[in-house]
Amino acid sequence: MAPVWQRRSAWACEDREVTSAPPLTDSTLVRAARQQAVSHTPVWFMRQAGRSLPEYRELREGTNMLESCRQPEMVTEITLQPVRRHGVDAAIFFSDIVVPLQAVGIDLDIVAGTGPVIAEPIRTRAEVERIPELHPDQISDIAESVRLLVGELGETPLIGFAGAPFTLASYLVEGGPSKNHERTKALMHGDPELWSDLCARLAQISSIFLQVQAGAGASAIQLFDSWAGHLSRADYLRHVEPHSRRVLGDLAEHHPDLPRIHFGVGTGELLVPMADAGADVIGVDYRVSLTDAVERTGGRYAVQGNLDPALLFAPWEALEARVREIVEEGRQAPGHIFNLGHGVLPSTDPEVLTRVVELVHEVSAP
Ligand code: CP3
Repeated sequence: MAPVWQRRSAWACEDREVTSAPPLTDSTLVRAARQQAVSHTPVWFMRQAGRSLPEYRELREGTNMLESCRQPEMVTEITLQPVRRHGVDAAIFFSDIVVPLQAVGIDLDIVAGTGPVIAEPIRTRAEVERIPELHPDQISDIAESVRLLVGELGETPLIGFAGAPFTLASYLVEGGPSKNHERTKALMHGDPELWSDLCARLAQISSIFLQVQAGAGASAIQLFDSWAGHLSRADYLRHVEPHSRRVLGDLAEHHPDLPRIHFGVGTGELLVPMADAGADVIGVDYRVSLTDAVERTGGRYAVQGNLDPALLFAPWEALEARVREIVEEGRQAPGHIFNLGHGVLPSTDPEVLTRVVELVHEVSAP
């Protein structure tokens, strides 16, 4: 069989397991993503499921992060916690971008306070060629978690997610988190063909990870290219965009009803190519105003964002004013999903998050 990057057909995850529920197309999240009218601005928070919640810390005690991600009952409970507590308009699946990499056999760990650490970084052709394809059977627990969740969530949509090829590649090549991504960029420019082969393999893995979540009942997906903001526009377009486009295109082909959100940090210069790569919604971090994001993308895309997570530590009056501004700016977009510009910081007071949800609902209702 031809190597993955030479095959033309889309990577398909045959849904032998029948979808447990249709996507919640009437939810505010899906409607806003599709640029339809909503009763209020939908709101959820990146990293809402996790360390800012005492009930999360209690449940996780004694269980390693990656093990937690593979236990359907635990995944279900952790995903539901912020929905119950804050009344957010969507749940984000509790997992991690490196879960599918571990599922294909890459030796890695998530180290608390550091992030993903790879036992043997991948830098040579031989190492790249040892990365196997992901098969849906290797993540049947993920499908089970999603099915359990969709049953529990009722009318609240579940957002599935995956890491984009560049962000995954950076962890694999650097061996862990990186400030400057120097080895990654050295590979990208020193051996563009090998780089492309690596990203094609990662695109296959992300594609199947998303399709499994979509097939089991997720109502939307988000592709996280968290570190793409470290790239120039030219490098993004040449070395990264085709692979992310492939992931988003596969999902569109197999699950055309599911809105696709594309997010990165510090990606103000990349909003247009990231949106055009096959997204319905462009994630905007706090460095760019929603007004500028809408202008840059020609009003063609719904936007998601973009409260600075650090502002959750400011006095309520300052925070309230900023939330109101963002909701107002969002009215100029063809669709707006309220979120943070990046993830919830671990020491955030969860009660502040609940107040922000209430405020967004109150001020955005017509
Ligand atoms: O609430 C949610 O957003 C859902 C779950 C989720 C996690 N990781 C759980 C997690 C999601 C969507 C992710 C995505 C993810 N993982 C990204 C993209 C999003 C982003 O923040 O840009 C990235 C880059 C990773 C890699 C990763 N995993 C990092 C950087 C970290 C944090 C390291 C640390 O401890 O500071 C992790 C670990 C991780 N992923 C935690 C959680 C809840 C913390 C684990 C713990 O409880 O100790």
